[in-house]
Amino acid sequence: MADQYVIAVDQGTTSTRAMIFNHEGRVVAVDQMEHQQIFPKAGWVEHDATEIWNNTREVVAGALAKADLTKDAIAAVGITNQRETALVWDRTTGKPVYNAIVWQDTRTDAICQQLGALGGGQERYKDKVGLPLATYFSGPKVRWVLDNVEGAREKAEAGDLVFGNMDTWVLWNMTGGVDGGLHVTDPTNASRTLLMDLRTLSWDADIAADMGIPMSMLPEIRSSSEVYGTVRAQGVLAGVPIAGILGDQQAATFGQACLSPGEAKNTYGTGNFMLINTGTELVPSKNGLLTTVCYKIGEQDTIYALEGSIAVTGSLVQWVRDNLGLIAAAPDIEDLAKSVEDNGGAYFVPAFSGLFAPHWRSDARGAIVGLTRYVNKGHIARAVLEATAFQSREVLDAMNADSGVDLTALKVDGGMVVNETLMQFQADILGVPVIRPVVAETTALGAAYAAGLAVGYWDSEEDIRTNWAEDKRWEPQMDAAQREKLYAKWRKAVTKTLDWVE
Ligand code: G3P
Repeated sequence: MADQYVIAVDQGTTSTRAMIFNHEGRVVAVDQMEHQQIFPKAGWVEHDATEIWNNTREVVAGALAKADLTKDAIAAVGITNQRETALVWDRTTGKPVYNAIVWQDTRTDAICQQLGALGGGQERYKDKVGLPLATYFSGPKVRWVLDNVEGAREKAEAGDLVFGNMDTWVLWNMTGGVDGGLHVTDPTNASRTLLMDLRTLSWDADIAADMGIPMSMLPEIRSSSEVYGTVRAQGVLAGVPIAGILGDQQAATFGQACLSPGEAKNTYGTGNFMLINTGTELVPSKNGLLTTVCYKIGEQDTIYALEGSIAVTGSLVQWVRDNLGLIAAAPDIEDLAKSVEDNGGAYFVPAFSGLFAPHWRSDARGAIVGLTRYVNKGHIARAVLEATAFQSREVLDAMNADSGVDLTALKVDGGMVVNETLMQFQADILGVPVIRPVVAETTALGAAYAAGLAVGYWDSEEDIRTNWAEDKRWEPQMDAAQREKLYAKWRKAVTKTLDWVE
């Protein structure tokens, strides 16, 4: 294995990356390209899927060039992706009929309300699919495209249009596109559409009928770790097996070696996503979490998870950079926050896409509360960072309540975990230690593991445990009374954002 590697494509919300890993699970090379965020109206977020596919090809070639490797050194390709972001394309031309509608987009609120009104409200499909009816998920986005793009419904009914999340789009193109591309997904991605039965891992015809989505549009659901096919389109990787697909948050859970029931991680990306492995048990949530597929390795039993999804965390820092111009680069938020002792009484609830877990309120919109003339930009920066920590606390409380066991430590990963101020505050507000691994890029790593296991590059999940190593740990330092006082204020701030959209 010494001269063999695995490459992972991480098609994320703001960028696409290719990362090459060695057998110890260490990063050998990375290449990354951002793509355009398209905001046609308030609450709408789109991506140009053609731009994303072009970027994918470039970063794969870029990573290989940086590592000075050719395809002969690559044992397998894994794919991981922003989940829920929905694309409809024409299988005969390979062209998208509309931009990809991003997971943060809220345009399907009316569709969700109409579906709920058929009976059962927000919980209509929850028992079967583990999710509330919310704008976050793919199914209603596909419905929107079929209802709003001229001629789309007729073409879909004729069998010409297909749907996929970004994993499927990348895989279809990599395996030949119009020339026999594979129309396949895995259960972790399928479990985010509102269309998959969690118990059978198959599409539910009744829900598809409710949503007016022809079954012929839906990709085949295969496991998260098996050889789906080989690369055909990408010259630099031609012939290499594609052998792993995991939605990005499930990939991070796998890469963090959360492989036993009760093990949990929190990823700090565009949003925050905390997942706890619940093993083969499918645990319904009573506290606003999602029940989702964690992974399915080949023929092995399906492993489930409970998830708390937070829509806006890292993207709030970007918003402060791009829309307010308070900082020049995202990492500058830490120095600005450190220019003050505390938040000066200001709380920032970034309900830009409504509120996700544990609230699921599409009527909420963002607010900064507690302002006085004393508050300066340092306090706002602090409130921005604290928002991530407080939202994670809401989710952790829900997780403890749902599982009946209190988490004793939390593994963290993602871009924001280099921010020491945030990590210390996170430990303080949770009241449990926060642990960062040596390889914080666990999303790409998890996809690489799924692919490498399928081709025998790694022998078993034991290799994942062996490779995982702790880098740094933050212990809670705040006293409990102070913690609860700050958290109570946050909860009050949240109430100020509700009932904003009629
Ligand atoms: O559910 C959305 C999630 O998959 C997006 O992750 O890291 O691209 O913000 P990220």
